[in-house]
Parts: sequence; structure tokens; C-alpha cells
Amino acid sequence: MSDPTPSPDFVISQALEEQIARAAELIERARSVVALTGAGLSVESGIPPFRGPGGLWTKYGEPPLDGYQRFLRDPKRAWQDRLSPREPWAQALAETLGSAKPNAGHRALAELEAIGRCDAVITQNIDDLHRQAGSRALIEIHGNHKLLRCLGCVARFSEGELGIDPERLPPRCPRCGGVVKGDTVHFGEPIPADVLRRCHQVVEQADCMLVVGTSATVYPAAEFPLEVLRRGGSLIEVNPEPSELSDLAQPSLRGPGGVVLARLVEIVSQARAGSLR
Ligand code: APR
Repeated sequence: MSDPTPSPDFVISQALEEQIARAAELIERARSVVALTGAGLSVESGIPPFRGPGGLWTKYGEPPLDGYQRFLRDPKRAWQDRLSPREPWAQALAETLGSAKPNAGHRALAELEAIGRCDAVITQNIDDLHRQAGSRALIEIHGNHKLLRCLGCVARFSEGELGIDPERLPPRCPRCGGVVKGDTVHFGEPIPADVLRRCHQVVEQADCMLVVGTSATVYPAAEFPLEVLRRGGSLIEVNPEPSELSDLAQPSLRGPGGVVLARLVEIVSQARAGSLR
């Protein structure tokens, strides 16, 4: 299956192959591996990142940091914006989200979970691609663009379940009558407590974190790798460019997520198959 925006011209050098082999050993030896992913992992699926070259914020400027407060002040208007985005960045994002498909990187992490070498994926991405790739132990820390969430009882729904009526906005929760918003976490919005609790549960257990495609600049997600390091765990990074974590990661694998993760998981699977024989 070919990826929408593959990195066909990226060739894994001998030096990178050796680093990937070392990363594979770390994963095989670890007691608990947790992956943390960001927008970079979905670049090969045709979704732009936020920062750096070609980033949405680079192109359109960062949105106001009080998005959540604006929602609370006027949820009807916020819903009208959701149903027909006016902001150029929101239009650009909605376009790519609609047609994007998982790439080799998403599939590799689902496989790593399936062979018992990844206990959870914490993603900052709202694009639903890990879910579509088959990841089950998935925590979407910034929400999922396909889901809705009640601000009262935190119940989540698909749009189809609620049947959105543009004449009656904002939609109300059928369980508690609370206001319903998109599940995506806005700037200024606290991460839902149930999601944060699950993140801490898996991070506390992890002695190896695989960080893919994030600038590691947004908290609380950017704190998790530091927590694993502080407890003496190991940190593996996959990113074509240096990030806030690159000096701390051992190794920091310089290449596109889809290509590098596919090779990494291939090695781990082979080793695992060999050890089971
Ligand atoms: N494979 C792996 N990484 C890549 C690739 C690729 N093919 N292409 C780019 N990258 C890297 C970039 O080098 C950069 O370090 O992905 C990273 C993307 O960083 P950001 O755009 O800052 O995305 P992210 O870290 O996920 O942002 C965190 O910020 O704006 C908020 O809510 C938004 O979840 C998002 C959060």
C-alpha cells in the first residue's frame, strides 16, 4: 500500500541503519515501551505539521490562545465555525483531515503493539489515523476531530450519533443536557481529566519512550519524555529535523517517520520471531 506523501527519495544510510538496530535492541530489552507521536508522523499522509517548514502556524500564524474561552463565551458561533470554517488554517486542516489515510509509520506502531512491544501510543494528533491503522492502546491527548465531547459529563459521541441540527446550536448532551463541543482540545482548554490520568498511568510504567514527529514544545505532552528520562528510562526519537529532545534522545534517528519506523519495527519483529523459534 503506497503512502499519499511518501518519502521515496529517502534512503537509509549505513550509519542510520546501525542506529536503528541499536534502537531496536532498546525496544526488545525494555520492560514497557510507550510511543509519543506528533504532527510529523502524519506528514507522509498529506497533513501539514504546525511548525517549521510548511507548518500551518508558520503559514497562517498561530491561532489565538483563548480558543476555549471563546467557545464558552459563544458556543453557537463556535459551532457555526466548526460546520463551515472561516479561518484559512482551519479550512486547510479540514481539507487534509477529510482525505488522509494512515501511512507506514502508523501501521508500524500498530504492529509493534500487536507483537507486544508497545504498551500504548499517546498521540497529539487529532486526525484519527492511529485508530484507522489498528492501534488499540491509544490515548488521543488533544482529542479526535471525528468525535464530540460533552462539557458536563465528558461523554463522547460521533457526529452521526447526535445528529447535528444547524438550526439548534450548540448541540446538547442526550445524557446530562450539557453543552457538546468537538473533542479536539482548543488552545486554553485543560486536557480532559480521564485522558490525562491514562497518560500518567502508562508513562509511569514506561522505561522506554519512542518519540516520533513532534517538536516537543507543547505541554503537558512534552513533559512525558522528560519524566521517563528522569526515572532512568531511555528515549528514542524519530524526526528528520532536530527538536527540543534531540540532545536527550539516544539515539535520535534523523529521517521521516514512515520510513524509519517501518524499518525499526521490521527489525524488532524479526528479532522477536527469532527468539520465539
Ligand atoms: N516524519 C517525522 N517527523 C517529521 C516529519 C516526518 N515525515 N516531517 C516533519 N517532522 C517533524 C518536524 O521536524 C517537527 O519537529 O515533526 C515535528 C512537527 O512539530 P509540530 O508541527 O510542532 O507538531 P507537534 O509537535 O505535534 O505540535 C504539538 O501543537 O499546535 C499544537 O495542538 C497542536 O498537537 C499540536 C501541538
